[in-house]
Amino acid sequence: MSTNDEPLEIVVCLGSSCFARGNSGNLAMIEEYIESHDLNATVRLCGHLCEDQCKQGPNLTVGGEVYHGVTADDLRQILERVGRSLRGANGAT
Ligand code: FES
Repeated sequence: MSTNDEPLEIVVCLGSSCFARGNSGNLAMIEEYIESHDLNATVRLCGHLCEDQCKQGPNLTVGGEVYHGVTADDLRQILERVGRSLRGANGAT
């Protein structure tokens, strides 16, 4: 995902529909994951307002890849992939 020293960007839709449909909890889960895995330097977490894709929400973007209908289980898997990718990129085991 992250191929250089730029932080990996995770963008969460904070529009009211996505927020109510799951991004409230997803945002908390991402923040918790970043904190507990000490990823503040390698992940940049941002939010944006509604982008008129509410029907497919909750929506978020990880490293430029857009995810729709993200459940807590989906997000857990996404974050595990992110964690593996970042550990690999940093040369850690
Ligand atoms: S609230 Fe997320 S796309 Fe509309």
